[in-house]
Amino acid sequence: MVSRRGFLLGSVLVPTAFAVGCAGGTSTPTSGPGPATRPLPIPPLLPSAVGTDGVRRFTLDARAGSTEMVPGRSTPTWGYSGSVLGPTIRARRGEQVEFTITNTLPEATSVHWHGMHLPAASDGGPHQMIAPGAVWRPSWTIGQQAATLWYHPHPHGATEKHVQRGLAGFFLIDDDAADALGLPDDYGVDDIPLVLQDRRFTPAGEIDESDPTDIGLLGDTIVTNGIAGAHLAVGTERVRLRVLNGSPGRLYNLAFADDRAFALIATDGGLLPEPVELRRLQLSPGERAELVVTLRPGETAVLRSLPITDRAGIDRAAEFGFDDTFDLLELRAAADLRSSPALPTSLIPLAPLVPAHTPPTRTFDLQWFMINNQRMDMNRIDLTVPVDTIEVWQVRNHDNWPHNFHIHDVQFQILTVDGAPPPPALAGWKDTVYTSSGVTYTLAMRFADHTDPTFPYMYHCHLLHHEDQGMMGQFLVLAPGMSATPRAMAMAGMDHG
Ligand code: C2O
Ligand code: CU
Ligand code: CU
Repeated sequence: MVSRRGFLLGSVLVPTAFAVGCAGGTSTPTSGPGPATRPLPIPPLLPSAVGTDGVRRFTLDARAGSTEMVPGRSTPTWGYSGSVLGPTIRARRGEQVEFTITNTLPEATSVHWHGMHLPAASDGGPHQMIAPGAVWRPSWTIGQQAATLWYHPHPHGATEKHVQRGLAGFFLIDDDAADALGLPDDYGVDDIPLVLQDRRFTPAGEIDESDPTDIGLLGDTIVTNGIAGAHLAVGTERVRLRVLNGSPGRLYNLAFADDRAFALIATDGGLLPEPVELRRLQLSPGERAELVVTLRPGETAVLRSLPITDRAGIDRAAEFGFDDTFDLLELRAAADLRSSPALPTSLIPLAPLVPAHTPPTRTFDLQWFMINNQRMDMNRIDLTVPVDTIEVWQVRNHDNWPHNFHIHDVQFQILTVDGAPPPPALAGWKDTVYTSSGVTYTLAMRFADHTDPTFPYMYHCHLLHHEDQGMMGQFLVLAPGMSATPRAMAMAGMDHG
């Protein structure tokens, strides 16, 4: 057992530290990195130690700092155990994990484990606020397959601000089945976490939090892993990108500039049954995708976001950024590339939870910052779910605005999209789905365990401005005979330490 408590985040052990030097150039809004770029920072792995009790323990804090997001300019930012974003957390399926999280920010925040199946009291939603100076100690057993999850704040009404200031990190789950596949898995070398965010800066270099559009803050500068204008030096034939849309409201339509195909191997909840060859992939806020791209020696491939094509029924598409094109990341292949094993033809099997046309258990109508005509109320439980049941949720976006739909605690299967089977990119495990205007989705999920009569889980639109406006509801998972006993909970100031 090694205690690495003295490990310094952002130290020399990190492939590329977050604090990088000035490269002497600036990126322009729609032309991307350009010639003067900086190496993509790779978030360091968060050290942990396994106690004699078998529990893997991690320590994190939320803090304020400053970051050179744009070369030559210092921007006040927030981060976990660093100035911006957070270290990557890694744990294996079956392990018990425990966190000690200190909030050193001047205001209350929370840490939500997006995509994680866990007890509601450890979920880190708006009912688990950490007051300034307080400590929160969530713990649970990892009971789901290998996946790319993430963590971020969830304070009711202020999530967009907290995320946009820099609070977000990756949480990678490993398991034996994924390890056995021979996928690129050398962290920071051929297995790259890539969080996409968009920001606007004030002339003084601060993050501009003014003038949200109807989908929230929309930036003109793309920031990848915390900096604008990044490139990635690639030394292997294949590279795996674990892409997270960490933007408050922007959608990305991923493509390569030369239109090359890439393999989609995983979605929100883990690996697909088999790789899917794609040339375009749309990601809405909160969604993840793992891509494998093949490079030729010496070439440069540019990952780009193209205009959003899924826009039927959307008014004011330009205002929502749907017409924008951005270069996201330049991948520079070395003159000599180490060969990578071919991708396996099959990955992780997926058994359907229910037949595709199972009638819905419940319906969720998204309209006007509301779900089923109601805005979020911290003291109202919107629905209760009996434990150990499979439900089918029907979700429809009735607006001419973009929305998506995220459910805490579970990964779901998309059964149908307007009655038809989902496209391959939506056929794996998901916890967040883009809801096209006027389209009906049916989602199947199993509420396996973790009953709690008091602490609810959330479901919401993951466009953070919409979530903050109250486009969110709460549900309890109840054991037979258990009745809901929610308590009126303060929105801030609770110390669960
Ligand atoms: Cu990533 Cu309730 O959210
Ligand atoms: Cu979540
Ligand atoms: Cu929305």
